[in-house]
Amino acid sequence: MSSPLELAYRNTSLEPGARRHLDRLMATWSLLADLCFSDLLLYVPFDPLAGGTLSDDAHMLVVLGQVRPTTSPTLFEIDLVGEVVTARELPLVVEALRTGAIAVGEQRNDSGEGHLRVECIPVRYSAQVLGAISRVWSPTIARRRGALERVYLELFERLSLMVTDGIFPFADDELPVEHSPRVGDGVMVLDDRSRITFVSPNAVSALHRIGIMSALNGSTLPALGLDTSIVQDSFATRLPVVEEIERRSEVTLLLRCIPLLSRGEVTGALVLLRDVTDVRRRDRLLLTKDATIREVHHRVKNNLQTISSLLRLQARRIEAPAGKIALAEAERRIRAIAVVHEILSRESGDQVPFDEIVHALVKMAQESNVGPHDVAVRVEGELGDIPAEMATSLSVVLAELLQNAIEHAFVAGDTEVVAERPDGPPRIDLVFHHDPQHYEVIVRDNGVGLPEGFDIEVTRSLGLSIVRDLVRTQLDGSISMVDDRGTLVRLDVPTRRAGTAF
Ligand SMILES: Nc1ncnc2c1ncn2[C@@H]1O[C@H](COP(=O)(O)OP(=O)(O)OP(=O)(O)O)[C@@H](O)[C@H]1O
Ligand SMILES: [Mg+2]
Repeated sequence: MSSPLELAYRNTSLEPGARRHLDRLMATWSLLADLCFSDLLLYVPFDPLAGGTLSDDAHMLVVLGQVRPTTSPTLFEIDLVGEVVTARELPLVVEALRTGAIAVGEQRNDSGEGHLRVECIPVRYSAQVLGAISRVWSPTIARRRGALERVYLELFERLSLMVTDGIFPFADDELPVEHSPRVGDGVMVLDDRSRITFVSPNAVSALHRIGIMSALNGSTLPALGLDTSIVQDSFATRLPVVEEIERRSEVTLLLRCIPLLSRGEVTGALVLLRDVTDVRRRDRLLLTKDATIREVHHRVKNNLQTISSLLRLQARRIEAPAGKIALAEAERRIRAIAVVHEILSRESGDQVPFDEIVHALVKMAQESNVGPHDVAVRVEGELGDIPAEMATSLSVVLAELLQNAIEHAFVAGDTEVVAERPDGPPRIDLVFHHDPQHYEVIVRDNGVGLPEGFDIEVTRSLGLSIVRDLVRTQLDGSISMVDDRGTLVRLDVPTRRAGTAF
């Protein structure tokens, strides 16, 4: 579905560079709205290629963007993006578009008493005026003017002129990131020699938290003991610069320095700052939690490997062949589980790419092949990422089925080699398929097929009993095993167990 902005853009004929300029403006203009305590609307001519002139009554304007201030109540409860208005209704917007200069005036207040104040700022891009920002506020509900309000409005004026000159939004500005500071978080104003001329109360508090108590006005950031070249860099590049400052790893401040330019000269800077200590602490905790989980998987894998080595050692000391085989089987089963933990120790999150497990299990099965034939294993399809809890059960099941095919499909009796092979050289096909509800796994071999009267429901041998139990109780799925020019095993497992969140 198209967004309102997308639809609004369709009513214009802006070339891509111009569109990017407006997109950048709308990504950063909450700063303007906050500084002027007003709602802002961005108007652009409705398909200027359609003919007519701006003064033409029939001409239309479309609202491309709308932003509300966080420093003041809004005048517009409704979303106006995409609205089309006749130019006649917005004479100040038309004036700004035509003259390329800021136009100020009044507008009747449709929804309330009195008049609304309107200021229209043309948005220039190279030589063109693309549209106009309309700042609308009501003198009756405007904030009481104190020192802070005066400073903010003056900053707004300086930035408005930069919009009119085509300097703001900055051409190479990295768009504000998540948690990027806003006016309400803290504002500092610097003059053309990087000296502080104003610090908002929230900025004072943030600086206190990192231990800066000295007089701020007249000082510079480095003189305050802040080890940063952010102002210098932004003056030199004439672009906004963002930096994070950490103090004794207890407090983290995020600073964004926006240079203020007038007639090509840097006249000062606006520094927004925000205490992001809590945000960063949470990030770090998440990171450590992730790393801890991975470390635990790593240790589990190591422990399982130790157990499997112990079993191998023990098997060597046992004389009875049956005992040797039993221990070797147990060792193999443990290694199948270790594979999952090995992969989980490398991945973050609780989903495992099952392909990687399949790959490791196939390798394990082929290595355990002591029969006279090489057995080719072909893998088709995939299950994608699956929850870790399912991965363990499913990999044990798959290891058993692969092992059975390798062990039983291509020998008759215990040792006798299957001589005649009507279906070509020994091979196992693994077919995976998944949809939002199901995982389907097929293990098929072209071997001797199942013994007479075989029934998976009644078989009491260990391998398939494990398989049956895991599929039914752990995975809530179903299994069937049939003769089909060899053996065909089909598993069907729901992607989520009904009613449980893993
Ligand atoms: N792919 C197959 N082809 C032919 N026969 C099979 C196949 N899979 C299983 N069987 C038969 O089913 C029997 C039961 O298998 P199951 O895995 O339960 O036990 P096992 O492999 O004999 O011993 P273990 O408990 O070590 O796995 C096997 O002994 C074999 O006869
Ligand atoms: Mg078996």
